[in-house]
Amino acid sequence: MEKLNKFQKIINRIYYNLFIEKFNKKINYNFPDNYFRWDLIKYLIKKYNYTNYLEIGCDKDQLFSKVKIQNKIGVDPFSGGTVRKTSDKFFLENNEKFDIVFIDGLHIYSQVKKDILNSVQCLKPNGIVLVHDCMPDSIGKQAVPRYKMQWNGDVWKAIVDLRQKNNLEIYTCEIDQGIGIITNKKNSSVLKLDIPINKIKFKDYYYNYKEYMRVISINEFKEIF
Ligand SMILES: C[S@@+](CC[C@H](N)C(=O)[O-])C[C@H]1O[C@@H](n2cnc3c(N)ncnc32)[C@H](O)[C@@H]1O
Repeated sequence: MEKLNKFQKIINRIYYNLFIEKFNKKINYNFPDNYFRWDLIKYLIKKYNYTNYLEIGCDKDQLFSKVKIQNKIGVDPFSGGTVRKTSDKFFLENNEKFDIVFIDGLHIYSQVKKDILNSVQCLKPNGIVLVHDCMPDSIGKQAVPRYKMQWNGDVWKAIVDLRQKNNLEIYTCEIDQGIGIITNKKNSSVLKLDIPINKIKFKDYYYNYKEYMRVISINEFKEIF
């Protein structure tokens, strides 16, 4: 995980507040305290007899080591997993297809959007892409440049942006920092944004996140999937 020095954090915070956005409200999510990303993945593997798993961003294998499946690949340029590369380099050279891709690499909008679009290209027909850290509760947790240790990044923007497309069916499950759920199906609820994505702020997310992200509970998820 990236180390942040104290001085850089202060500079980034001042910069963000002065030039990007200042907004103090905080969201209280209903994340269950007994259901996590590994439980969701286990549920899907069992239900659909999935055999091939790809994880982008593995860190210390907190998740990767818990995923029990026939074939698994973990991509991280620095630690964990099985492949020491960036996600961009991996996707450029990859020819394999996967049942589940879990995206948890560089938590910056443009990179997450690229990781999602590359992942849906290498999904098996009934496959699914999951994206971690989609639901930040405060401005600091999603600020880029980063100024907090506990950080989701602006992953949420990639979900909001892609919710405007016709050919991806996207939800966000309200568990474990918010997990984006993406399949290669017709979008049954296309998002119409009245602000260009490059102008969207955390304040907009705060007031509209349920619609923007198409938030569902774990029980609703299990009714759909
Ligand atoms: C939040 S951690 C992953 C945590 C892990 N997936 C889990 O569930 O606990 C993010 C990881 O992404 C990795 N990372 C950073 N940039 C990346 C990139 N361009 N491609 C793939 N992984 C990247 C970092 O090295 C770090 O280990």
